[in-house]
Amino acid sequence: MQYKYHITTYGCQMNKNDSERIEVVLNKMGLQSTGDVESADVVILNTCSVRDSAEARIFGQGANFAKLKQKKPNLIVAVTGCMPGRDKTKELKKRIPWVDLYFANEEMIHLPKWLAELNPDFRVMEDLETDYLNIHPNYHSKFQAFVSIQTGCNHFCTYCVVPFARGTEGNRSLKSILAEIDDLDNKGYKEITLLGQIVNHYIAPDPEFFSKDNIYKKNDFAKLLWEINKMKSIERVHWTAPHPIYMDEEMIDALTLPKQVNFIHLPVQSGNDEILNKMNRRHDRQFYLDIIKKIRAKRPDMAIGTDIIVGFCGETEEQFQDTVSLFKICDFDISYHAKYSTRSGTVADKMFKDDVSKTEKKRRWQILQDLMEEITYAKNQKYVGQKVSVLVERCNDSWCEGNSNEMKLTRFKGNESMIGTIQTPEIYKAGTWLLWGRVV
Ligand code: 5AD
Ligand code: SF4
Repeated sequence: MQYKYHITTYGCQMNKNDSERIEVVLNKMGLQSTGDVESADVVILNTCSVRDSAEARIFGQGANFAKLKQKKPNLIVAVTGCMPGRDKTKELKKRIPWVDLYFANEEMIHLPKWLAELNPDFRVMEDLETDYLNIHPNYHSKFQAFVSIQTGCNHFCTYCVVPFARGTEGNRSLKSILAEIDDLDNKGYKEITLLGQIVNHYIAPDPEFFSKDNIYKKNDFAKLLWEINKMKSIERVHWTAPHPIYMDEEMIDALTLPKQVNFIHLPVQSGNDEILNKMNRRHDRQFYLDIIKKIRAKRPDMAIGTDIIVGFCGETEEQFQDTVSLFKICDFDISYHAKYSTRSGTVADKMFKDDVSKTEKKRRWQILQDLMEEITYAKNQKYVGQKVSVLVERCNDSWCEGNSNEMKLTRFKGNESMIGTIQTPEIYKAGTWLLWGRVV
């Protein structure tokens, strides 16, 4: 009998990358992927805990699975990701009694053993690896891949659940990262995205694997970027997310490496010093503005993105206006805005009051959203008449789409043979979220 699995992934790229690893574990057990949850024997929910609403979506699924289990008594429902990771007292688990397996990301190496205990028809296997990050993911593209280099975080920003959900910072072995990327390069991959909670704080546990002629001396992440830039097929290197305080001289210099995409995502969270301090971001407004200045001095046309939280505990209108003014100075190309949501266990939950009303958070969120759209639309006009470099991801009805080097979605007439290649359409029209081009 062919057993099947279905994985639903919530949240960030790192969760998506972990799901691609879980696929490898299940495939090795002989299970097959299915897009149809009703035909699955194992269902995995890979959860996100960043905001309250992300967890609420999991709590609400009990009735669906009760129905599925009635039809298929051997069905195994597993929950992984950030929720089990942060749930040290198993309080959250009590709210999902319909779940058969509940494990943190790093425990996926034990999945074969645990699944075989629940269903004796499954093949019993040894653990695949000791460090789950060394399991090479089942990449969903033949030309773009995500590579996790780090998990967890030591920073304890007061609003953030990540250090609880994913533990303190753990850096993957350099040897293993380079082997994975080298393998992708040999297979002809064009773009890789390095993932970590603070990627630019990557510290190689085995630095002896850096080349002797590496031009960077101090910052291991800059050194890693340099190593990747030597590879032959990979043409674009992208990474997320860095922390402003580790944007040192070498890091900023590494932005000029030839394969670095013309985009950086640098979370700021707030433009006000008191709020930044209460968030434990470890830098002030001016420090962030100086970094942006240095980036622009090295690469004037680099697109810049950020993350902002509105309505953090005690945030006044004046303090919010500091975020608005910082936004205007930085002239962001894209910004992800979140309304602050209390996460149990965090310092903010214990020490501060979540006292900005829902309506006010919504109003501030909308102000930033409108500002971003206005700025982005205006900025995108500069591409009209210019050629941009696009890695083509898909083509439908002779329309091809992909991201430019600035991570701007671009559409132009083409054909399926262009998928996975880099094209340089000339832009004739620019909207807020889409550039229209022509390949001449
Ligand atoms: N409430 C709202 N947004 C949050 N983020 C992280 N924690 C919270 C929270 N408690 C946002 C931050 C971070 C992004 C991944 O999610 O902006 O950069
Ligand atoms: Fe969370 Fe701050 Fe670490 Fe980012 S740096 S993962 S926001 S604690």
